[in-house]
Amino acid sequence: MSDLVGIERHGAGVALVELNRPEALNALSDELMEALDAALVTLEGDESVRCVVLAGAGRAFAAGADVAAMADATAVEMLGAGRIERWERIRRFRKPLVAAVHGYCLGGGCELAMSCDIVVAASDAQFGQPETNLGIIPGAGGTQRTARAIGKSLTMEMVLAGRFLRADEALASGLCSRVVEPEALRPEALAVAIRIASRPPVAVRLAREAVLQAFEMPLAAGLEHERKLLYLAFASEDAREGMRAFVEKRRPDWKGR
Ligand code: CAA
Repeated sequence: MSDLVGIERHGAGVALVELNRPEALNALSDELMEALDAALVTLEGDESVRCVVLAGAGRAFAAGADVAAMADATAVEMLGAGRIERWERIRRFRKPLVAAVHGYCLGGGCELAMSCDIVVAASDAQFGQPETNLGIIPGAGGTQRTARAIGKSLTMEMVLAGRFLRADEALASGLCSRVVEPEALRPEALAVAIRIASRPPVAVRLAREAVLQAFEMPLAAGLEHERKLLYLAFASEDAREGMRAFVEKRRPDWKGR
């Protein structure tokens, strides 16, 4: 495994993946993205891991794509090297992902955070999509996910005017779900992940799928899909166990079936 991305196993069904290129503010070079991809493939195949936290080493979460590497690349080179496929695999990662964001979270870094299911931010986090500074535009969700997360006007300021959002603004606009002091960031993100990992895996998986469909489907189709997933969850052993445990006033013993 490359040392550009580290995996820490925290027990209780949780692993932390750390982007580790602090000298370049974790700029997402091809090598780093390959290492991230490999780490996620490893964790996806590891039955003992049920939720993953993604964090950055040093003073940033990630300052975006590697501008130095992109400066002389042709459009054809940008299309190649498996970049699109890597982003697709992140998008389709099967387990809940919690981003623990501190410092700069820009361009591809912000797109990576938004690919996660939950964003926990440190009070020093700064979110931005500054690609137009470079004469390009976001290309991994920075126009689409941002608009869905925080609405048109703020997205346009970020994308067209290069405005950075402070953590409190990200919280108020819905880009993240909580803001904590920097020293509390990892403990807090891990605590959220441990809570998710302690819950019945089938229900967590189906509920996550249902929420993600809210961004893909019209409301009527989304409601229909949600209803079907509910009946699928209902058929699990854990659903019986959860409801019986409630009635019998005891803690449920989840089996993941
Ligand atoms: N790519 C490559 N290197 C980067 C980088 C990036 N995105 N961001 C920072 N670095 C490097 C710097 O070049 C610098 O390296 P050296 O010490 O070797 O000079 C080091 O990280 C530290 O950065 P700074 O000295 O610039 O730190 P700062 O605190 O003064 O400024 C910053 C921080 C405002 C984030 C500034 O570094 C910056 O503007 N970075 C670029 C941000 C950006 O434009 N991101 C979007 C990239 S495009 C994209 O992401 C879209 C896509 O997917 C196609």
